[in-house]
Amino acid sequence: MPTLTQNELKRLVAHAALDYVAPGEVLGVGTGSTVDMLIDQLPEIRDRIPACVSSSERSTKRLEALGFKVLDLNAVDSIGVYIDGADEIDPGFSMIKGGGGALTREKIVASAAKKFVCIADASKKVDVLGRFPLPVEVIPMAAGVVRRRLEALGAQVKLRDFVTDNGCRILDAAGLRINDPKGLEAVINAWPGVVTVGLFAERGADVLLLGTADGVKTFTR
Ligand code: A5P
Repeated sequence: MPTLTQNELKRLVAHAALDYVAPGEVLGVGTGSTVDMLIDQLPEIRDRIPACVSSSERSTKRLEALGFKVLDLNAVDSIGVYIDGADEIDPGFSMIKGGGGALTREKIVASAAKKFVCIADASKKVDVLGRFPLPVEVIPMAAGVVRRRLEALGAQVKLRDFVTDNGCRILDAAGLRINDPKGLEAVINAWPGVVTVGLFAERGADVLLLGTADGVKTFTR
């Protein structure tokens, strides 16, 4: 196989995810450049998808432009599969997410889905999470206190120049070596003012479709 670019790998894994969409079930749609490629290929299986639930305004716009019905999560009883990218994924299927700023809605929609399929290019697979700065969405007035608590854990923290779909802010915490993703997720989530930490460990992925130089590799939890 000729060497594929990162974008071609993303398109390839996004296409492989179409096989996980069961006919008649509401589809949960994540956010990001890999998911954009998924959305662009969804028309191929339009007949299988009665409606979607989206994790961001960005994905909603893209889905609606292609004629897909996007429902409010409150109008839906169950989601068959949630498909989303990741900024990092470890061997236990825990992820860092939120590079695109949609982590809170992503975590909510993922929690409502029977299955989480992660689509990622090979650069996202790591042994230990933390090389990618960990996003933490905070209520704006809590940015300072949460920043100090993250710094006390050893992180270098930056306030992102960005307002989330929820009207909140994001702190990016670099330099953490995350050996216990579930434990750290629970700790940070419990701090007052934290809306969501971008660690997806309690509800990690069930399937990883990884775009590699040798094609799509499938890993199942
Ligand atoms: C969006 O908030 C993120 O969680 C994305 O899912 C993640 O950053 C992966 O994005 P890319 O597909 O653009 O790498």
